[in-house]
Amino acid sequence: WRASDRTLAVAGVARAAAVGWGVLASGGSALAAVVDAVVCLEDDPLFNAGTGSVLNAHGEVEMDASVMAGDTLAAGGVACIQRVRNPVRVARHVLETTDCVLLAGAAATAFAREQGFEDYDPGRPRAAHAGRRGGTVGAVALDDAGHLAAATSTGGREGKRRGRVGDAPIPGAGNYADAVAAVSATGWGEQMLRYVTAKDVAARVARGAEPQRALREALDDMARRYAWCDLLVCRS
Ligand code: GLY
Repeated sequence: WRASDRTLAVAGVARAAAVGWGVLASGGSALAAVVDAVVCLEDDPLFNAGTGSVLNAHGEVEMDASVMAGDTLAAGGVACIQRVRNPVRVARHVLETTDCVLLAGAAATAFAREQGFEDYDPGRPRAAHAGRRGGTVGAVALDDAGHLAAATSTGGREGKRRGRVGDAPIPGAGNYADAVAAVSATGWGEQMLRYVTAKDVAARVARGAEPQRALREALDDMARRYAWCDLLVCRS
């Protein structure tokens, strides 16, 4: 990170947190809060999601995103979706309007069009910010009703194979929420798919660990086998 980019990234995260907090403060649900916070980050070309997504090996943007509601364990996700501005909003539509958890590829994009999401080329705004690259984005929230939710969105790994799906749209890997914890992960997706990282952190919280301790233990365990990852965790 250049110092100026770090400042912009911190400001971007603060903006997203304020948006999510605003939803909660006006009585909105945790699910609505995490979606709106992640939309804010998807629209910020500094981060690797939505408008700022990296390119795959064919110079295309393929995005993954998911949402999960902790009170019902309802989840929705999209994988390898293209030409939409906010994949996390499409993921919420999967949760709320289908009996599926995950839609992938051209079918996910077609579903977005059916639901009224306009064609959008994330590549153009991103090009204006070439060289500035934040990571996958996510948010977790706890609302007044005591419900938790998590959302995660990403452009995946730069130069990835076409059709590659990371951890972000997979419940339990890059995103998870239940009655006790909500988790959103960023890092090397293949590692978190194998470790089922978000669920592992939530399970440690359910067994009584404080969130930071649960996170530390999971990261330490992963570090014995893997490289690095960062996670957000929030407990009711
Ligand atoms: N964690 C994002 C990805 O690997 O796709």
